[in-house]
Amino acid sequence: MSKKPAFKHINRREFVRAAAAAGGLAFVTACGDEILGIKGDDLALGKKGGKPGGGKGGPVDRYPLNVPSVHEFPGELTLNCAPARVDLGGEQMSDVWAYNGSFPGPTLRAARGDRVNVILQNNLLDETITHWHGMVVDHLNDGHPMHAIQPGAGPRLYDFSINQRAALNWYHPHPHELTGEQVNLGLAGAFIIEDSEEAQLNLPTGAYEVPLIIRDAKLDRSGNLTYTAKRGGFSGDTFLVNGTLNPRLEVDRTLYRFRILNGSNARIYRLALDSGHPWLLIGNDGGLLANAVGGASVAQIDLSPAERLDILIDFRGLNTGDKVMLQDLNAGWDLLEFEVTGAISNPAASFVDGQALSAIDPLVQNGATRTFSFDGMSRINGQQYEMDRIDERVPVDSVEKWIFTTNGNAPHPVHVHAAPFQVISRTGGRNEVFPWERGWKDTVLLEDGETVEVLVYFRKEDYLVDGVVPANSIYLMHCHKLEHEDMGMMMNWELYDPSA
Ligand code: C2O
Ligand code: CU
Ligand code: CU
Repeated sequence: MSKKPAFKHINRREFVRAAAAAGGLAFVTACGDEILGIKGDDLALGKKGGKPGGGKGGPVDRYPLNVPSVHEFPGELTLNCAPARVDLGGEQMSDVWAYNGSFPGPTLRAARGDRVNVILQNNLLDETITHWHGMVVDHLNDGHPMHAIQPGAGPRLYDFSINQRAALNWYHPHPHELTGEQVNLGLAGAFIIEDSEEAQLNLPTGAYEVPLIIRDAKLDRSGNLTYTAKRGGFSGDTFLVNGTLNPRLEVDRTLYRFRILNGSNARIYRLALDSGHPWLLIGNDGGLLANAVGGASVAQIDLSPAERLDILIDFRGLNTGDKVMLQDLNAGWDLLEFEVTGAISNPAASFVDGQALSAIDPLVQNGATRTFSFDGMSRINGQQYEMDRIDERVPVDSVEKWIFTTNGNAPHPVHVHAAPFQVISRTGGRNEVFPWERGWKDTVLLEDGETVEVLVYFRKEDYLVDGVVPANSIYLMHCHKLEHEDMGMMMNWELYDPSA
């Protein structure tokens, strides 16, 4: 980092606390110096309204989609969190916070069985810690806020082995009450896990496997990312895909695999292709689905913060010059334009609706049933998060039923750290489990009036260090609307070994 932009330090944490306590609002620009009070949580999620450059109503300048560089494990990787200046498209340079100067951070890849060694350095102005969202690892490697490192202090070392199925996971900061700001200002990246089951399918790879991190954003007058928190959730007036404004991607006439992450703090997308161009849904948070799903039931897919999708789009039937738009029907945003430019090339394999992809054994409950009410915007079961309070104790090797309900102020995308689950039912509200919620998940969307039941698997071997479940194996469950999380809609659960 030769030239660091001058960031004015604002004590973000004080605003979070004030907002949570007073029921007021904190409206803060993190890179700038304005502090404004505003009234009312008027920005309902998922409603039409925003009018970004990429909206309807005329051609916009489109910029080539950024595809972050790839780092493959095993081996050691230094991740440095620091301010950076990046090109969001059109050579417009913007201040962000980034991992290794890359926005989004480098795409990490590892195969099942690989060992991951990461040296995390903090050159921000606040403490930070990185969490591997979707990764099932022992407590010391999970990136719990209790392990945050101070700016300029020694690094945090991560050392874990990948022992889970192929999936698109991701990494992002998780410091107490500061997660929303740090993610919003740019700290997030994809972490792709491969395994042999998936390899047998011959899915598109290389240039034909493209991660898409979709998020909304606010730019200040100088074009820098700026964070304006609201209790109801951050709402940006524009969007970025892989850190690119109004992106376009030139595609060959072949089959593509898109690994999609909703990297927004709070926004829910309803994704679709324009003109009804078909796609095939093959996976989600927890990797491949049992069967591919095409047709009307997946023509529009709702994706809440931290959820992922694995999608195949076949451009073979199109002609050079044809365009297909990935859209968000909620905001009316044209997210990404595909333009067919390349030659025809035959994909490695073909895929059809209903095709078997992966063996998924349905979980069978053998442990407790617990109910969690997501109350207001800052509490679970009536309580705000406290770092050193253990809220639940969970025995390893159990499959528990966790029931999520809400008392208003939804949507709440509910996320469980380090323990994958299967969605069993949704009653009330939308009243169904959608095709993209089958298989394995780590985040599920809870709307008002809904009760969602999941079965969570706490597989003992995933948490062992030197053959035992360590003391203080403490993990999180929280709302992944990051403003709710920062205000306290989060709880600690602790694993223990009943046989020890
Ligand atoms: Cu993606 Cu606890 O977070
Ligand atoms: Cu997580
Ligand atoms: Cu919430």
